[in-house]
Amino acid sequence: MPTDATLHPDIHKILLSEDALRARIRELGAQLTRDYAGRRLLIVGVLKGSLIFMADLLRAIGPEVDVHVDFLAVSSYAGTASTGTVRVLLDLRENPEGRDVLVVEDIVDTGLTLSSLTETLRARKPRSLEVCTLLDKPECRKTPFSPKYVGFKIPNEFVVGFGLDYDERYRQLPYVGVLRTP
Ligand code: IMP
Repeated sequence: MPTDATLHPDIHKILLSEDALRARIRELGAQLTRDYAGRRLLIVGVLKGSLIFMADLLRAIGPEVDVHVDFLAVSSYAGTASTGTVRVLLDLRENPEGRDVLVVEDIVDTGLTLSSLTETLRARKPRSLEVCTLLDKPECRKTPFSPKYVGFKIPNEFVVGFGLDYDERYRQLPYVGVLRTP
């Protein structure tokens, strides 16, 4: 746990400490290693929020899995909430057809981003397609969506740090925290 001296002044409280994140990501890595042992796995990070989780998760997956890495970026659903369709801004460089694909995301909130994105990816005929999210706010769903791998279920609070931002800020915080309200 950081001391007060290292806690960002805009953070009201730490929801998930560095230790808690490290321990849970190690467990997720072990689970993925068991589930994909002997297979070739294309891990797709959704930019930008997944970057820190992705880096830690990759290092928690054992050599039993032949891991390949790719990234994509999608538009926010703002303005398209009625359809729940997101636009792919940066596409994969690898072809997912016939591959085991694992999408890595920072947080599932309404579920609109990932339900749309997984539908888009499924159309490209992967052999399998699963989602691993660090955080899940199940109370906030606007569309049914259940990721197979979840780091932590959290309450309906806006969180930042460990890759997650507010207006592009706070991504570098090594913990997940709740912002102080102004
Ligand atoms: P969705 O609502 O499930 O479509 O989530 C879309 C995106 O909203 C996530 O990938 C995050 O980038 C962002 N988001 C949702 N909740 C939070 C939060 O508490 N903090 C930071 N970003 C969030």
